[in-house]
Amino acid sequence: MPSSKEFIEMDLKYGAHNYHPIPVVISKAEGCWVYDPEGKKYLDCLSAYSSQNTGHCHPEIIKALKEQADKVTLTSRAFHNDMMGPYLKQLCDIVGPHVYDPKKTGIMALPMNTGAEAVETGLKVARAWGYIKKKIPRGEAKIIVCGDNFHGRTITIVGLSTDIQHARYFGNFGPFTPGFIIIPYGDAQKLENTILEIGPENVAAFLVEPIQGEAGVKIPPEGYLKKIRRICTKYNVLLMVDEIQTGLCRTGKLFACDHENVKPDMFLLGKALGGGVYPVSAVVTTTEIIGPDVITPGTHGSTFGGNPLAAAVAMKSLDIHINENLAERAREVGAYFIKELRKITNKKTKVPVKEVRGRGLLIAIEFKGDVRHFIENLKEKGILAKDTHSTTIRFAPPLIITKEEIDWALKIIEDVIVE
Ligand SMILES: Cc1ncc(COP(=O)(O)O)c(C=O)c1O
Repeated sequence: MPSSKEFIEMDLKYGAHNYHPIPVVISKAEGCWVYDPEGKKYLDCLSAYSSQNTGHCHPEIIKALKEQADKVTLTSRAFHNDMMGPYLKQLCDIVGPHVYDPKKTGIMALPMNTGAEAVETGLKVARAWGYIKKKIPRGEAKIIVCGDNFHGRTITIVGLSTDIQHARYFGNFGPFTPGFIIIPYGDAQKLENTILEIGPENVAAFLVEPIQGEAGVKIPPEGYLKKIRRICTKYNVLLMVDEIQTGLCRTGKLFACDHENVKPDMFLLGKALGGGVYPVSAVVTTTEIIGPDVITPGTHGSTFGGNPLAAAVAMKSLDIHINENLAERAREVGAYFIKELRKITNKKTKVPVKEVRGRGLLIAIEFKGDVRHFIENLKEKGILAKDTHSTTIRFAPPLIITKEEIDWALKIIEDVIVE
């Protein structure tokens, strides 16, 4: 087998340099642990950006994948298959009680593959609902989004990102899709003011992450979600939450919105839905919003969305999240991890610490300086974590991680960051 160095050289020679990975090659994985070709073992504290909630290669998910692979894998939506319906029923049954459905029209889902596709789909649905149901004049629908958001990398999505201010997006990918207004994250009053400035009759939706993951695990002020819910209801604006990273138990509840008992109009889900083995995403909302009078044949689609293999994997992933009580585990173990990290960061660190924050097992240490050297040092000592925005280290291990594994990690983290 080629060495790690050779694999990295091949990536760099033949693959576009659209990522700047930590120089480690993973060739095997199980649970919370991954292995390089030389056999060195690492604790995965990134979980493929929260996609590996159930742990790498969960035996039941792999079994479901293999069994389905032997039957039928892809039909396209030109035909029905015998897996999509049961999967969507299960998804709607689980997510439904968390969705705002005042007219009790019922819950429906639209299956896609990647997170960015779920966001794009949600934006299209919101606009269509705006024109068809809210009677916004054609071409006038506005969607409000937040500064520092991360919703993916398509043209529309990077266009509504504040990263367009940075060199990596600015100039090279425009012109962008019009109709989006960016307001600061966590400021409910600003949302109401902006709706009033635009004219509530033309605002279709507000798109928000209940915790901003990629921005560095930014938790909004207490009560923010309740307030934005009230404002959206008052002006008949859809509350669309991107729980692609925070959803499915990551923050210690099934959804991050549950921490404030807030029910959005629409969930955007992805990552862990695919059980860490397959891209599976979905928009879950009410029949009022996505029903046959809004989304009609040909208005949206994906060759792979809702395919039988994806459905088999997603059903098993949902089962495991619930049957293994992953929300409760994330809540308990996460609280312990955060408490112990705070003890460590109270000591004199090599780079001063600004804050330790987190909810469940979505945790970050924000430093007052660059942390890339910490990341590389952690890797040398057997922990894979990733920086966001160069000053923040995010810790988001699989939700099956044990207290003993966290204790092992804490010793290394202390060794790396404390003077
Ligand atoms: C909150 C959020 N939304 C959307 C996405 C995009 O998902 P994907 O990379 O599957 O397109 C991500 C990915 O990190 C995310 O964290």
